[in-house]
Amino acid sequence: MVYARATTVCRRSSAEVLGAFRATVGNTPIVHIGLDIAGTRRWIGLKLEGHNPCGSIKDRTAASLLESIGPDALDGASAIVESTSGNLGVSLAHLAGELGLPFHAVVDPKLSPVVAERMRERGALLHRVTEPDDTGGYLLTRLDTVARLHREIPGAVWPNQYANPANPAAHRDGTGPEILRQTGGAVDAVFVAVSTGGTIAGVSEHLRTASPATRVIGVDVVGSVVFENRPGARRLSGIGASRRSDFLRADTVDGHEMVTDEEAFAFCRALDRWCGLRVGGSSGAVLAGCVHHLVRHPEITRPVCIAPDIGENYLRTLFDDDYLRREGIELHDDLLRPTPAHDPVRFLGKA
Ligand SMILES: Cc1ncc(COP(=O)(O)O)c(C=O)c1O
Repeated sequence: MVYARATTVCRRSSAEVLGAFRATVGNTPIVHIGLDIAGTRRWIGLKLEGHNPCGSIKDRTAASLLESIGPDALDGASAIVESTSGNLGVSLAHLAGELGLPFHAVVDPKLSPVVAERMRERGALLHRVTEPDDTGGYLLTRLDTVARLHREIPGAVWPNQYANPANPAAHRDGTGPEILRQTGGAVDAVFVAVSTGGTIAGVSEHLRTASPATRVIGVDVVGSVVFENRPGARRLSGIGASRRSDFLRADTVDGHEMVTDEEAFAFCRALDRWCGLRVGGSSGAVLAGCVHHLVRHPEITRPVCIAPDIGENYLRTLFDDDYLRREGIELHDDLLRPTPAHDPVRFLGKA
Protein backbone atom coordinates (compact mmCIF):
# COMPACT_ATOMS: atom_id res chain seq x y z
CA MET A 1 0.00 0.00 0.00
CA VAL A 2 1.22 3.56 -0.73
CA TYR A 3 0.49 6.35 1.71
CA ALA A 4 0.58 9.94 0.52
CA ARG A 5 2.32 12.66 2.44
CA ALA A 6 -0.04 15.32 3.83
CA THR A 7 0.01 18.56 1.92
CA THR A 8 -0.49 21.60 4.10
CA VAL A 9 -0.46 25.28 3.31
CA CYS A 10 1.56 26.19 6.36
CA ARG A 11 3.39 23.56 8.38
CA ARG A 12 4.33 24.76 11.89
CA SER A 13 7.65 23.70 13.39
CA SER A 14 7.49 20.91 15.95
CA ALA A 15 9.17 23.15 18.54
CA GLU A 16 6.39 25.70 18.15
CA VAL A 17 3.57 23.10 18.23
CA LEU A 18 4.94 21.14 21.18
CA GLY A 19 5.85 24.29 23.12
CA ALA A 20 2.31 25.64 22.79
CA PHE A 21 0.79 22.28 23.73
CA ARG A 22 3.06 21.86 26.77
CA ALA A 23 1.80 25.15 28.18
CA THR A 24 -1.71 23.67 28.42
CA VAL A 25 -0.86 20.21 29.82
CA GLY A 26 -0.69 19.21 33.49
CA ASN A 27 -1.54 20.93 36.78
CA THR A 28 -4.71 18.85 36.87
CA PRO A 29 -6.75 19.20 40.07
CA ILE A 30 -6.87 16.78 43.01
CA VAL A 31 -10.44 16.51 44.34
CA HIS A 32 -11.08 14.78 47.68
CA ILE A 33 -14.04 12.47 48.22
CA GLY A 34 -15.31 10.88 51.43
CA LEU A 35 -16.19 7.18 51.59
CA ASP A 36 -17.57 5.06 54.38
CA ILE A 37 -15.50 1.90 54.07
CA ALA A 38 -16.23 -0.94 56.51
CA GLY A 39 -17.81 1.53 58.94
CA THR A 40 -14.97 4.07 58.88
CA ARG A 41 -14.89 7.42 57.08
CA ARG A 42 -11.90 7.62 54.72
CA TRP A 43 -10.82 10.45 52.42
CA ILE A 44 -9.38 9.78 48.98
CA GLY A 45 -7.76 12.31 46.62
CA LEU A 46 -8.59 11.85 42.94
CA LYS A 47 -6.15 13.45 40.52
CA LEU A 48 -8.41 14.25 37.58
CA GLU A 49 -6.26 13.81 34.48
CA GLY A 50 -9.31 14.28 32.27
CA HIS A 51 -8.68 18.02 32.76
CA ASN A 52 -5.80 17.82 30.27
CA PRO A 53 -6.62 19.43 26.88
CA CYS A 54 -7.46 16.18 25.03
CA GLY A 55 -9.15 14.66 28.08
CA SER A 56 -6.54 12.28 29.47
CA ILE A 57 -3.18 11.69 31.10
CA LYS A 58 -1.87 10.66 27.67
CA ASP A 59 -1.45 14.33 26.71
CA ARG A 60 1.61 14.31 28.95
CA THR A 61 2.89 11.10 27.33
CA ALA A 62 2.21 12.28 23.77
CA ALA A 63 4.16 15.53 24.28
CA SER A 64 7.09 13.69 25.82
CA LEU A 65 7.16 10.96 23.13
CA LEU A 66 7.15 13.45 20.26
CA GLU A 67 9.80 15.63 21.94
CA SER A 68 12.02 12.53 22.24
CA ILE A 69 11.97 12.08 18.45
CA GLY A 70 13.78 15.41 18.15
CA PRO A 71 12.92 18.48 16.04
CA ASP A 72 14.95 17.45 12.97
CA ALA A 73 13.40 13.99 12.66
CA LEU A 74 9.91 15.22 13.48
CA ASP A 75 10.01 18.21 11.14
CA GLY A 76 11.24 15.89 8.36
CA ALA A 77 8.77 13.06 9.07
CA SER A 78 6.10 11.92 6.61
CA ALA A 79 3.66 10.41 9.14
CA ILE A 80 3.24 9.18 12.71
CA VAL A 81 2.24 5.56 13.45
CA GLU A 82 1.34 4.22 16.89
CA SER A 83 -0.60 1.47 18.66
CA THR A 84 -3.18 2.87 21.06
CA SER A 85 -6.03 1.77 23.28
CA GLY A 86 -7.55 5.19 22.59
CA ASN A 87 -6.36 8.10 24.67
CA LEU A 88 -2.83 8.36 23.31
CA GLY A 89 -4.45 8.22 19.88
CA VAL A 90 -6.58 11.29 20.61
CA SER A 91 -3.56 13.25 21.86
CA LEU A 92 -1.35 12.18 18.92
CA ALA A 93 -4.15 12.87 16.42
CA HIS A 94 -4.41 16.40 17.81
CA LEU A 95 -0.66 16.98 17.67
CA ALA A 96 -0.24 15.36 14.24
CA GLY A 97 -2.95 17.71 12.95
CA GLU A 98 -1.06 20.71 14.36
CA LEU A 99 2.15 19.40 12.78
CA GLY A 100 0.44 18.79 9.41
CA LEU A 101 1.27 15.07 9.52
CA PRO A 102 -0.97 12.05 8.81
CA PHE A 103 -1.46 9.91 11.91
CA HIS A 104 -2.01 6.15 11.57
CA ALA A 105 -3.57 4.80 14.77
CA VAL A 106 -3.62 1.03 15.24
CA VAL A 107 -6.59 0.18 17.44
CA ASP A 108 -8.65 -2.85 18.43
CA PRO A 109 -12.33 -3.80 18.81
CA LYS A 110 -12.40 -2.68 22.47
CA LEU A 111 -11.87 0.94 21.42
CA SER A 112 -14.70 3.07 22.79
CA PRO A 113 -16.86 4.37 19.89
CA VAL A 114 -16.69 7.87 21.37
CA VAL A 115 -12.88 7.80 21.43
CA ALA A 116 -12.81 6.46 17.85
CA GLU A 117 -14.92 9.46 16.81
CA ARG A 118 -12.69 11.86 18.72
CA MET A 119 -9.64 10.45 16.89
CA ARG A 120 -11.30 10.65 13.47
CA GLU A 121 -12.49 14.23 14.10
CA ARG A 122 -8.83 15.13 14.58
CA GLY A 123 -7.90 13.47 11.28
CA ALA A 124 -6.53 10.12 12.49
CA LEU A 125 -6.52 7.16 10.07
CA LEU A 126 -7.71 4.16 12.06
CA HIS A 127 -6.35 0.65 11.41
CA ARG A 128 -8.43 -1.80 13.43
CA VAL A 129 -6.97 -5.23 14.21
CA THR A 130 -9.56 -7.95 14.74
CA GLU A 131 -7.54 -11.03 15.74
CA PRO A 132 -6.97 -11.44 19.48
CA ASP A 133 -3.49 -12.57 20.51
CA ASP A 134 -2.76 -15.74 22.50
CA THR A 135 -3.70 -14.04 25.78
CA GLY A 136 -7.16 -12.95 24.60
CA GLY A 137 -6.03 -9.30 24.33
CA TYR A 138 -5.05 -7.40 21.20
CA LEU A 139 -1.79 -5.68 22.11
CA LEU A 140 0.49 -8.15 20.35
CA THR A 141 -1.51 -8.06 17.10
CA ARG A 142 -1.64 -4.25 17.29
CA LEU A 143 2.15 -4.10 17.63
CA ASP A 144 2.63 -6.39 14.60
CA THR A 145 0.46 -4.04 12.53
CA VAL A 146 2.36 -0.96 13.71
CA ALA A 147 5.66 -2.60 12.76
CA ARG A 148 4.28 -3.37 9.29
CA LEU A 149 2.99 0.20 8.74
CA HIS A 150 6.29 1.61 9.97
CA ARG A 151 8.11 -0.50 7.36
CA GLU A 152 5.66 0.35 4.57
CA ILE A 153 5.43 4.14 5.01
CA PRO A 154 8.73 5.80 4.04
CA GLY A 155 9.73 8.48 6.55
CA ALA A 156 7.14 7.48 9.16
CA VAL A 157 8.06 7.85 12.83
CA TRP A 158 6.87 5.42 15.55
CA PRO A 159 7.01 6.97 19.03
CA ASN A 160 6.54 3.48 20.57
CA GLN A 161 4.87 4.18 23.90
CA TYR A 162 5.64 0.61 25.06
CA ALA A 163 9.43 0.93 24.97
CA ASN A 164 10.33 4.63 24.73
CA PRO A 165 11.79 5.94 28.03
CA ALA A 166 10.14 9.28 27.24
CA ASN A 167 6.86 7.66 28.36
CA PRO A 168 7.82 7.17 32.05
CA ALA A 169 9.90 10.38 31.93
CA ALA A 170 6.67 12.37 31.35
CA HIS A 171 5.39 11.17 34.73
CA ARG A 172 8.74 11.27 36.56
CA ASP A 173 9.09 14.93 35.62
CA GLY A 174 5.39 15.93 35.54
CA THR A 175 2.74 13.82 37.27
CA GLY A 176 4.91 12.70 40.21
CA PRO A 177 6.24 16.15 41.24
CA GLU A 178 2.74 17.65 40.80
CA ILE A 179 1.21 15.18 43.26
CA LEU A 180 3.78 16.05 45.90
CA ARG A 181 3.44 19.79 45.28
CA GLN A 182 -0.38 19.73 45.39
CA THR A 183 -0.52 17.65 48.59
CA GLY A 184 2.35 19.46 50.28
CA GLY A 185 4.04 16.04 50.44
CA ALA A 186 1.21 14.66 52.62
CA VAL A 187 0.49 11.51 50.63
CA ASP A 188 0.78 7.99 52.08
CA ALA A 189 0.03 6.03 48.93
CA VAL A 190 -0.53 6.64 45.23
CA PHE A 191 -2.79 4.23 43.27
CA VAL A 192 -2.10 3.94 39.54
CA ALA A 193 -3.78 2.03 36.67
CA VAL A 194 -1.22 0.10 34.64
CA SER A 195 -1.03 -0.68 30.94
CA THR A 196 2.26 0.32 29.32
CA GLY A 197 3.45 0.97 32.89
CA GLY A 198 4.75 4.40 31.89
CA THR A 199 2.66 6.31 34.42
CA ILE A 200 3.46 4.12 37.40
CA ALA A 201 7.16 3.75 36.54
CA GLY A 202 7.64 7.50 36.19
CA VAL A 203 5.61 8.47 39.26
CA SER A 204 7.41 5.81 41.29
CA GLU A 205 10.86 6.92 40.15
CA HIS A 206 10.15 10.43 41.39
CA LEU A 207 8.56 9.36 44.68
CA ARG A 208 11.36 6.91 45.52
CA THR A 209 13.77 9.81 45.86
CA ALA A 210 11.51 12.76 46.74
CA SER A 211 9.12 10.96 49.15
CA PRO A 212 10.40 7.46 49.94
CA ALA A 213 7.65 6.82 52.53
CA THR A 214 4.90 7.16 49.92
CA ARG A 215 3.76 3.74 48.74
CA VAL A 216 3.09 3.11 45.07
CA ILE A 217 0.29 0.63 44.39
CA GLY A 218 -0.48 -0.65 40.88
CA VAL A 219 -4.05 -1.45 39.89
CA ASP A 220 -4.76 -3.92 37.13
CA VAL A 221 -7.79 -5.68 35.74
CA VAL A 222 -8.46 -9.42 36.01
CA GLY A 223 -7.34 -11.11 32.76
CA SER A 224 -4.36 -8.77 32.23
CA VAL A 225 -0.83 -10.13 32.69
CA VAL A 226 1.00 -7.02 33.93
CA PHE A 227 1.23 -8.34 37.52
CA GLU A 228 -0.29 -11.83 37.43
CA ASN A 229 0.06 -14.49 34.78
CA ARG A 230 -3.62 -15.37 34.34
CA PRO A 231 -4.53 -14.16 30.84
CA GLY A 232 -8.16 -13.78 29.89
CA ALA A 233 -10.66 -11.61 28.05
CA ARG A 234 -11.26 -8.10 29.43
CA ARG A 235 -13.78 -5.40 28.64
CA LEU A 236 -12.05 -2.34 30.09
CA SER A 237 -9.80 -0.42 27.73
CA GLY A 238 -6.80 1.69 28.68
CA ILE A 239 -5.88 -0.45 31.69
CA GLY A 240 -4.23 -3.89 31.49
CA ALA A 241 -2.04 -5.49 28.83
CA SER A 242 -1.35 -8.79 27.08
CA ARG A 243 2.33 -8.63 28.01
CA ARG A 244 4.42 -7.40 30.90
CA SER A 245 5.53 -3.79 30.94
CA ASP A 246 9.04 -2.90 29.78
CA PHE A 247 9.14 -0.11 32.37
CA LEU A 248 8.38 -1.94 35.63
CA ARG A 249 11.42 -2.82 37.73
CA ALA A 250 11.55 -4.94 40.89
CA ASP A 251 11.31 -1.83 43.09
CA THR A 252 8.68 0.11 41.09
CA VAL A 253 5.63 -0.92 43.11
CA ASP A 254 4.96 -1.70 46.77
CA GLY A 255 1.95 -3.82 45.90
CA HIS A 256 -0.88 -4.27 43.47
CA GLU A 257 -4.64 -4.81 43.46
CA MET A 258 -6.65 -6.75 40.87
CA VAL A 259 -10.14 -5.54 39.98
CA THR A 260 -12.90 -6.97 37.76
CA ASP A 261 -14.47 -5.04 34.89
CA GLU A 262 -17.81 -5.07 36.71
CA GLU A 263 -16.35 -3.60 39.92
CA ALA A 264 -14.67 -0.83 37.93
CA PHE A 265 -17.96 -0.03 36.15
CA ALA A 266 -19.87 -0.03 39.45
CA PHE A 267 -17.38 2.38 41.06
CA CYS A 268 -17.57 4.70 38.03
CA ARG A 269 -21.35 4.79 38.17
CA ALA A 270 -21.42 5.32 41.95
CA LEU A 271 -18.84 8.11 41.77
CA ASP A 272 -20.92 9.83 39.11
CA ARG A 273 -24.15 9.41 41.05
CA TRP A 274 -22.97 10.34 44.54
CA CYS A 275 -20.12 12.77 43.90
CA GLY A 276 -20.98 14.22 40.48
CA LEU A 277 -17.60 13.10 39.09
CA ARG A 278 -17.76 11.29 35.74
CA VAL A 279 -14.49 9.52 35.07
CA GLY A 280 -13.35 6.70 32.79
CA GLY A 281 -13.34 2.94 33.40
CA SER A 282 -9.73 2.70 34.53
CA SER A 283 -10.40 5.48 37.09
CA GLY A 284 -13.23 3.35 38.52
CA ALA A 285 -10.78 0.43 38.63
CA VAL A 286 -8.20 2.51 40.51
CA LEU A 287 -10.80 3.66 43.03
CA ALA A 288 -12.01 0.07 43.54
CA GLY A 289 -8.39 -1.11 44.00
CA CYS A 290 -7.76 1.71 46.48
CA VAL A 291 -10.84 0.72 48.51
CA HIS A 292 -9.68 -2.94 48.65
CA HIS A 293 -6.28 -1.76 49.82
CA LEU A 294 -7.56 0.73 52.43
CA VAL A 295 -9.63 -1.87 54.25
CA ARG A 296 -6.46 -3.92 54.83
CA HIS A 297 -4.37 -0.83 55.60
CA PRO A 298 -6.04 1.42 58.19
CA GLU A 299 -2.74 3.31 58.59
CA ILE A 300 -3.17 4.89 55.12
CA THR A 301 -5.07 8.13 55.70
CA ARG A 302 -3.96 10.27 52.75
CA PRO A 303 -4.23 8.22 49.55
CA VAL A 304 -4.25 9.69 46.04
CA CYS A 305 -5.74 7.85 43.03
CA ILE A 306 -4.74 8.90 39.54
CA ALA A 307 -7.92 9.07 37.42
CA PRO A 308 -6.56 8.83 33.84
CA ASP A 309 -9.43 10.11 31.68
CA ILE A 310 -12.89 11.63 31.29
CA GLY A 311 -16.09 9.63 31.62
CA GLU A 312 -17.46 11.14 28.39
CA ASN A 313 -15.25 8.64 26.52
CA TYR A 314 -17.50 5.86 27.88
CA LEU A 315 -20.98 7.32 27.37
CA ARG A 316 -21.79 4.53 24.90
CA THR A 317 -20.25 1.77 26.99
CA LEU A 318 -20.11 1.69 30.77
CA PHE A 319 -22.43 4.70 31.27
CA ASP A 320 -24.99 3.27 28.81
CA ASP A 321 -27.61 0.93 30.33
CA ASP A 322 -28.33 -0.64 26.92
CA TYR A 323 -24.65 -1.51 26.51
CA LEU A 324 -24.62 -3.16 29.95
CA ARG A 325 -27.78 -5.12 29.11
CA ARG A 326 -26.32 -6.26 25.77
CA GLU A 327 -23.14 -7.40 27.53
CA GLY A 328 -25.16 -9.17 30.23
CA ILE A 329 -23.64 -7.01 32.98
CA GLU A 330 -25.72 -6.28 36.07
CA LEU A 331 -24.39 -3.56 38.34
CA HIS A 332 -25.47 -3.92 41.98
CA ASP A 333 -24.28 -2.62 45.33
CA ASP A 334 -22.48 -5.85 46.19
CA LEU A 335 -19.86 -4.89 43.60
CA LEU A 336 -18.96 -1.97 45.91
CA ARG A 337 -17.94 -4.30 48.77
CA PRO A 338 -14.29 -3.91 49.82
CA THR A 339 -14.29 -7.61 50.83
CA PRO A 340 -17.07 -10.23 50.90
CA ALA A 341 -17.26 -9.79 54.69
CA HIS A 342 -18.03 -6.06 54.56
CA ASP A 343 -21.01 -3.93 53.63
CA PRO A 344 -20.89 -2.01 50.34
CA VAL A 345 -18.94 1.26 50.43
CA ARG A 346 -21.06 4.39 50.97
CA PHE A 347 -20.13 7.49 48.99
CA LEU A 348 -20.29 10.59 51.23
CA GLY A 349 -19.55 13.17 48.52
CA LYS A 350 -16.78 15.65 47.76
CA ALA A 351 -14.79 17.27 50.56
C1 LIG B 1 -7.80 5.31 30.40
C2 LIG B 1 -6.41 4.84 30.69
N1 LIG B 1 -6.12 4.37 31.92
C3 LIG B 1 -4.90 3.91 32.23
C4 LIG B 1 -3.87 3.89 31.31
C5 LIG B 1 -2.56 3.27 31.69
O1 LIG B 1 -1.47 4.12 31.63
P1 LIG B 1 0.00 3.57 31.31
O2 LIG B 1 0.00 3.17 29.87
O3 LIG B 1 0.87 4.74 31.59
O4 LIG B 1 0.30 2.41 32.18
C6 LIG B 1 -4.14 4.37 30.04
C7 LIG B 1 -3.15 4.31 29.00
O5 LIG B 1 -3.43 4.37 27.82
C8 LIG B 1 -5.43 4.87 29.71
O6 LIG B 1 -5.75 5.33 28.50
